[in-house]
Amino acid sequence: MKKLTVAIDGPAGAGKSSVAKVVANRLHYLYIDTGAMYRAFTWAVLSKHVDIADERAVQKLTDTLRIRLEIGRDQCRVYVDDTDVTEAIRTSDVSSHVSAVAALAVVRQKLVQLQRDMAKSGGVILDGRDIGTVVLPDADVKIFLTASVRSRAMRRYLEVQARGNSGSLEEIEASIAARDDMDSHRAIAPLKQADDAILLDNSELDLEGTADAIMKYIEAKGR
Ligand code: DC
Repeated sequence: MKKLTVAIDGPAGAGKSSVAKVVANRLHYLYIDTGAMYRAFTWAVLSKHVDIADERAVQKLTDTLRIRLEIGRDQCRVYVDDTDVTEAIRTSDVSSHVSAVAALAVVRQKLVQLQRDMAKSGGVILDGRDIGTVVLPDADVKIFLTASVRSRAMRRYLEVQARGNSGSLEEIEASIAARDDMDSHRAIAPLKQADDAILLDNSELDLEGTADAIMKYIEAKGR
């Protein structure tokens, strides 16, 4: 049975990472969270107080920093050099700076290369914004997963509440819309559906329903 490469792209809050984990578990594939890599780089920029307008400083950081994903069965831990940043990369400080960092060419060059290396043996699911268009243009299955801004905001809102954090639905909706706008309009590798990607709108689907739909596409490719 051939080990496929599966690309799942789409805007923030569409549930890419949750569904990618479910599908990866069902297929015994590796799940590679590329957003976590951009977040890890952003964490380093913030904690080392690097000015992202200073190209040389950013270049130096890309040359020296080691970002590593330790992919287990049920979870993926993220390391910057030897520091475990798995939780630290989910703070609102990182979330509000990551789009600007992810727009930098040197950062993308480094992380795209890492992602291609991790995907080269197949049996992988990568989620992100540019997987089907830039990172793996020859991926076997490409899904563009989206949902209305309102339903994405509602999911985030429920997650945030479950964690006991505060934040209104309106604030979350505004922040998702702002991130969509930045990710879709940046000059390099903007969020965009690949010509050969399948568009899946899961506004009305739950996690299992979304996973089932994706499994059908993968099975159709003869996994
Ligand atoms: O999926 P996420 O929300 O954790 O991603 C964090 C940010 O990283 C998001 O604003 C867009 C950026 N990103 C990217 O530019 N390219 C990717 N392949 C993945 C994420």
